[in-house]
Amino acid sequence: MNMDELQKIIDDIRAEVREQIAQLGSLEELKQFEARITGKKGRLGELLSSIGKVAKEQRAALGGLLNSAKQEVQSGIDEMRERLQQAEHHAEQQADVGLDLTLPGRVLRPGGVHPVTAVQWEVEAIFERLGFTIEAGPELESDHYNFEALNIPAWHPARDMQDTFWLTNGYLLRTHTSPVQVRSMEKFGPPLRCIVPGRCFRYETIDASHENTFFQCEGLMIDRGISVANLIAVMKLLLREVFHRDVRIRLRPGYFPFVEPGFELDMNCAICNGSGCPTCKRSGWVEIMPCGMVHPNVLRHGGIDPAEWTGFAFGLGLTRLAMMKYGISDIRVMNSGDLRGLQPYERLGSFAL
Ligand code: PHE
Repeated sequence: MNMDELQKIIDDIRAEVREQIAQLGSLEELKQFEARITGKKGRLGELLSSIGKVAKEQRAALGGLLNSAKQEVQSGIDEMRERLQQAEHHAEQQADVGLDLTLPGRVLRPGGVHPVTAVQWEVEAIFERLGFTIEAGPELESDHYNFEALNIPAWHPARDMQDTFWLTNGYLLRTHTSPVQVRSMEKFGPPLRCIVPGRCFRYETIDASHENTFFQCEGLMIDRGISVANLIAVMKLLLREVFHRDVRIRLRPGYFPFVEPGFELDMNCAICNGSGCPTCKRSGWVEIMPCGMVHPNVLRHGGIDPAEWTGFAFGLGLTRLAMMKYGISDIRVMNSGDLRGLQPYERLGSFAL
């Protein structure tokens, strides 16, 4: 064997090593590969041991050539070993924490706005155009604002109308947004126009149309000469704007100690179009907006002289309004936290934004 022949063999081995080494998938494969190339019986190994058969004068040169080739190949192998060791270590760690990188990724769904939020924003926009401000009050309320100041003293049977979550310290979870009526009167004085969207709580048994947690939007307008006609006009305008059509309504006498006269404003059930369904208790009508003229006692509690000022108030059921507007027949979908129930209404997000 002369130098040229040896050089050729070495070049072949180098090329082979370069090509094959990158394809090795495990330390075990690498071990076998190493034995085939640099091991005693491997290709370079055999060449090295055959050096003895070469003429003396050539040995040193051939040996040098072989050794540098072997070193080069060995360092390639060592580098690959390190990489494979790291990969295997990594895989073990991941197996430890139960991570399976072959699982398909999660599909991220864009979020949507809750139907109650969507309808609340809409109602807010309508009333802002009418010059109403948007107010808020505490969900943890005092007996005074939730009942007393609203003309419902402790002995009054009307307290039974609103089953209440009482706290042991005498406070309660507000049963309606009406406490913010007197809070706003105290804060701003007359004339006054505001709405109060907010969460309310009642100790109710939950069914398709009752929840223990629901959203109302209180409305209050106080000025000189305000009458029932103003109330009806504003209510009709509101429903027309929300439903983009004239909505059939009816006004029935309704009793609330904080209004006189008081009304129940019902709208034609939008789920069954008035023909009767479980949501409207087969009546074709849904109570959507109890309302009335603010009782003089309530005005007095708010520091306003009823001889000079009158006003109307309403308690729009926002949760019910959302159900009517989007055709949601079961109120339980609203608070369940199970997004599958709300997904059909997801498109509301883009509409409301
Ligand atoms: N606060 C009353 C309720 O929740 C509704 C209402 C508000 C009635 C304003 C009249 C005026 O039942």
